[in-house]
Amino acid sequence: MERKTLKVLKEERVAVVRLNRPEALNALNSETLIELDDVIEELATDPDVDVIVLTGEGKAFVAGADIGEMRGLTAEEGRKFGILGQKIFRKLELLEKPTIAAINGFALGGGCELAMSCDIRLASEKAKFGQPEVGLGITPGFSGTQRLARLIGVSKAKEWIFTGDVYDANEAARVGLVNKVVHHEALMEEALEMSRKIASKAQLAVRYAKIAINRGIEADIDTGVQIEADLFGLCFATQDQKEGMTAFLEKRKPSFQAK
Ligand code: CAA
Repeated sequence: MERKTLKVLKEERVAVVRLNRPEALNALNSETLIELDDVIEELATDPDVDVIVLTGEGKAFVAGADIGEMRGLTAEEGRKFGILGQKIFRKLELLEKPTIAAINGFALGGGCELAMSCDIRLASEKAKFGQPEVGLGITPGFSGTQRLARLIGVSKAKEWIFTGDVYDANEAARVGLVNKVVHHEALMEEALEMSRKIASKAQLAVRYAKIAINRGIEADIDTGVQIEADLFGLCFATQDQKEGMTAFLEKRKPSFQAK
């Protein structure tokens, strides 16, 4: 599929997906959503990629769903557009490979929702966050009501969503939405450095840990620890577990294989 609204660059086991509609602040229209879906599918099975970084071209990460496209929608069309975004973001969240949002600027509405569907959020000091949808006469529609409440707590999520206020990166980090705020110029290097560190570990263990966290957080603790026990057990069936522990005991660096 030829992609017009995003670019993918691969190096050293890391894929950088760059939303590339800067003239519209990378707003998510149907075309971008479908291209994003396509790239997620491709990277999920790419044997050369262990970690995926999402970022935006220009002064925005993503300034939301495309308001021009949404303006004339009927109730049924609006529902379908919401479900399209929800499904793609859920696919991204459940991707076995770890994902990092490198948030270079505005992450509003659907942009904040996209960042929240990634595993880790690194923000430039210039990034801005918010769910301004009620000011447009709509609710957040790509699962923002669900993920923001889970990430920053119900009370704060209600404040953010009911007021539609925009927050700087430090406030987003203070409430737990963002992992780390970095100098704007250092953002991509920080994201790549973290990606390379993750890529240097045993990939099946990283992926099992992601599954355990994602599935466990949606379940009661007894179910969660059962999921962890099963995945912990599966690790012992891997060559990487033997290698990781042997390397430790032999005081050398491990050389992991499984992808
Ligand atoms: N949809 C479509 N176009 C958008 C857009 C969006 N979400 N955000 C920005 N643009 C376009 C602008 O219309 C403008 O286009 P023109 O040059 O053709 O006029 C261009 O991008 C540049 O934007 P601005 O001139 O507005 O840039 P600015 O620096 O003055 O302001 C901003 C930046 C504060 C982010 C402002 O653009 C803005 O408020 N954007 C909308 C943010 C928003 O409300 N997002 C939520 C969308 S709804 C949603 O996401 C629903 C959901 O949950 C699924």
